[in-house]
Amino acid sequence: MTHDNGFDAEQVTRLRAEAREIVARYPQPRSALLPLLHLMQAEDGYVSPTGIAFCADELGLTTAEVSAVATFYTQYKRHPNGEYTVGVCTNTLCAVMGGDAIWDGLSEHLGVGHDETTDDGKVTLERIECNAACDYAPVVMVNWEFFDNQTPDSARATVDQLRAGEPVAPTRGADSVCTFKQMSRVLAGFSDGRADEGIGAGVATQRGTVLAKERGWAAPAFPADDAAPVTTAPAATATAAGATPVTGGEQSSAERPVTTPADASATTQTSTSKES
Ligand code: FES
Repeated sequence: MTHDNGFDAEQVTRLRAEAREIVARYPQPRSALLPLLHLMQAEDGYVSPTGIAFCADELGLTTAEVSAVATFYTQYKRHPNGEYTVGVCTNTLCAVMGGDAIWDGLSEHLGVGHDETTDDGKVTLERIECNAACDYAPVVMVNWEFFDNQTPDSARATVDQLRAGEPVAPTRGADSVCTFKQMSRVLAGFSDGRADEGIGAGVATQRGTVLAKERGWAAPAFPADDAAPVTTAPAATATAAGATPVTGGEQSSAERPVTTPADASATTQTSTSKES
């Protein structure tokens, strides 16, 4: 069934060509749904009813199936989003390091709550979960760019700059913050050529590795396993304790064959984990 979607002829032609480029990356057309939803956000600024119908038509799905996916993930917006999504991490570590105070300050300053947008359409404020940037807590994200070690004052200054249309740079990563639509296009799989701008892992992130190298620390060798192997495969015997790990060996989880009774028994694994 083809839906009467709201895109004009130029949009349909352009989006259809891009959608087919995305679909071609996957063995099954329906596997392209997630990037296609990002493409719809790049076009409309959210996953609109028009976007839902377009995805359904392109992938041979029902609109109910597309909606079920679009409503499951919080990165997909079902109402018009602001030009900048400002996410305040209020997960445990950021919260105790000041994330809750940043949230309270920004919410009051902007006059909006979670997933609400300022009247000028510039900022959508969100509480977000851990962004794997705990080493720089408390963290604020603007269109998924990192703003590390924030305070209520620094976060307020950032949103004021965004609303004033001034250029804003994250503390790490890209040289500047792009718009929600531009970011959505990248998430759809169309590179903006900026992936290598700035640094990803900063000093705090690499601190453990640097210390280990300076002091000559290394992970301890695996203890010899006394359990009799269930099967003996070449890959399983390739790593002696302390030797360089190899794919499929005892120190690798990749395609490792069953080598001990614990590998093959859910009961053994459960009782082992309870004991530890
Ligand atoms: S708890 Fe905020 S980034 Fe991990």
